[in-house]
Amino acid sequence: MRPYYATTPIYYVNDLPHIGHIYTTIVGDAATRFHRLIGDDTRFLTGTDEHGQNIEKAAAAQGTTPIALADRVVRRYHELWGKFEIRNDDFIRTTEARHAWGVERIIARIEAAGDLYTAPHEGWYCSSCEAFYTEKELDEAKRCPVHGTPCQWESEENVFFRLSRYAQPLLAHYEAHPEFVRPETRRAEVMSFVRGGLNDLSVSRSKVRWGIPFPGRPGQVVYVWLDALSNYVTALGFGGSDEVLYRRYWEEPGGRRVHLIGKDILRFHAVYWPAFLLSAGLPLPTTVWAHGWWLRDARKMSKSVGNVVRPDALVERFGPDALRYFLMREMTFGQDSNFSDEAFLVRYNADLANDLGNTVSRVAALCRQAFGRTPEEPCRDNDVIRAYRPALEEWRAAMEDYAFNRALETVWRFLGEINGYVVSREPWKLRKEEGVTGKLERILYAAAEGVRLSAVMLSPFMPATARRIFETFGLPAADPGPPALKWGGLPLAAPLGEAAALFPRVDTAAYFEGKEGVPVTETPTPPPATMTSPQGGATPPPGPEAPPQPSAADARIAIEDFQKVRLVTARVVAAERVPKSNRLLKLRVDLGGEERQLVAGIAAKYEPESLIGRSVVVVANLKPARLMGVDSDGMVLAATVGEGGEPSLLEVASDVPPGSRVK
Ligand code: MSP
Repeated sequence: MRPYYATTPIYYVNDLPHIGHIYTTIVGDAATRFHRLIGDDTRFLTGTDEHGQNIEKAAAAQGTTPIALADRVVRRYHELWGKFEIRNDDFIRTTEARHAWGVERIIARIEAAGDLYTAPHEGWYCSSCEAFYTEKELDEAKRCPVHGTPCQWESEENVFFRLSRYAQPLLAHYEAHPEFVRPETRRAEVMSFVRGGLNDLSVSRSKVRWGIPFPGRPGQVVYVWLDALSNYVTALGFGGSDEVLYRRYWEEPGGRRVHLIGKDILRFHAVYWPAFLLSAGLPLPTTVWAHGWWLRDARKMSKSVGNVVRPDALVERFGPDALRYFLMREMTFGQDSNFSDEAFLVRYNADLANDLGNTVSRVAALCRQAFGRTPEEPCRDNDVIRAYRPALEEWRAAMEDYAFNRALETVWRFLGEINGYVVSREPWKLRKEEGVTGKLERILYAAAEGVRLSAVMLSPFMPATARRIFETFGLPAADPGPPALKWGGLPLAAPLGEAAALFPRVDTAAYFEGKEGVPVTETPTPPPATMTSPQGGATPPPGPEAPPQPSAADARIAIEDFQKVRLVTARVVAAERVPKSNRLLKLRVDLGGEERQLVAGIAAKYEPESLIGRSVVVVANLKPARLMGVDSDGMVLAATVGEGGEPSLLEVASDVPPGSRVK
């Protein structure tokens, strides 16, 4: 069995997981599931990057310690990976002792190679990137090219790594191993960067306290990237008392070690990390695979931009497999892709509800009607098996090439061929005209076996769905192993399982109108006009710059924060329904001389006319928003009883004049 070791980046704990983090992790999970399915000896690692200035700052802003913040965010990651059926074999945290031992060992080897020295260090530093920039890379205002925030001039004594020594060895490695950086465009980018020459790299910080103390350099902590990159081997026990896993997954000849990353961190993985390894005399990864970004409104989805999509509402409404499928199908691995609710629903209805769901239920229903069980006569000579052989080859080649969308297209083509076969053989007619014959058994065997094999090919992407399909056709609901890809695995004359609709169709228009409950995603626009979202969702997730708040109950804010919110009383002077919405009302309110228009999600409980003259409380200093095409300049406060309850307006005694400040 050939070793296959896949890793994701370890995620910072100053943000809660969003679609970007989930994407790389699902890719890693699907790739590892595929390798397990074809019989490789697999291992899959993910984890969290918990040291550094950013985490220190985020913790301080929340009035907590870095480790308490990390613990909370890690719980969230575990919970989410459970929901998405991520089968990671390990979860590394850089605050673990096993990690620190390994980092110390790597540094000792780099030191022994004569690649470390201490020198003064000055430069423009972006604390969000945890990286120095040269003058050339900054604009006139010295703003970070990634975050757009001002860099600080920093000056301190640091430990340096002789990166300049490794330009030639790295170039030689890229030349000799074209698969080292993928896709090809990224390889070209990395090579051109290294050809431009490499400066030595500062690998310690003296002003940061939250990190691993630099061995032999009192007062310095290990630079967060040297610390973080080492996780890929420390998690295998490198530097610990038992290096069995390390030898099996990192040193075994013929084994594959694949780092799956976003293109934002390519340089760290394709230049610095291999240079550290070369210096330490350790083997290099076989491939650094950099995928593109999920964009929203044409910008990289990220916490600092404030346009992230969190997975919760989607998973709640559609289940984890629909999102797993969408992310893997929609993005061409290596390129950027836009995330939109519309695209998600189109794929959900067309690909999942229609193509996949209908094929499975149709074939299961035909077996049920004809025999009340699976067919009892196998068949090895039919159009389905003829279509399967090339489909399997194409699927396998695409999976080995990380071309996930191509692999899925192949499965969908195969589903189309199964459907075509059923339509052309007309088993319903045959049953009516000839009854249950061997011929009918063989036709439905071919169709059902085709469906089973489609489910096996889909299992790396949609494990729960695959298991439900297996159950429908009398197989155990378990993840498949290598024999499952062979024609002939369908149990004969077995009882059929329950065939509940895999992906019930969604009425898109009703969905967008909000009739269907929670919206698909959090919008990057300002919050809706009542404390509950107008579509009736729960409290909106943390806004763009909000620190992670895994539990609203224990995230206290200072009085100064509360005072930033200008709450005033207002009298409703006019109210009407927002066209095409069941929940939204357009209100005109008097704020004591100033009139405003705002939109509130209270139509289910209040008739517009009944609101006129009432005194309510309004957040007056919210940025304006647009809801269902209507401008909303402020937000009415309302209380919601329980989950999903209808909001009740907070009313003020009629003797309080409009425009009074609420504190
Ligand atoms: N902690 C570092 C990585 C250290 S690895 C030794 C880090 N963490 S991160 O939390 O910012 O996560 C970065 C990774 O998350 C990206 O490389 C990518 O895998 C994923 N994504 C985050 N935002 C993304 C998108 N908008 N689109 C796709 N993936 C992105 O960097």
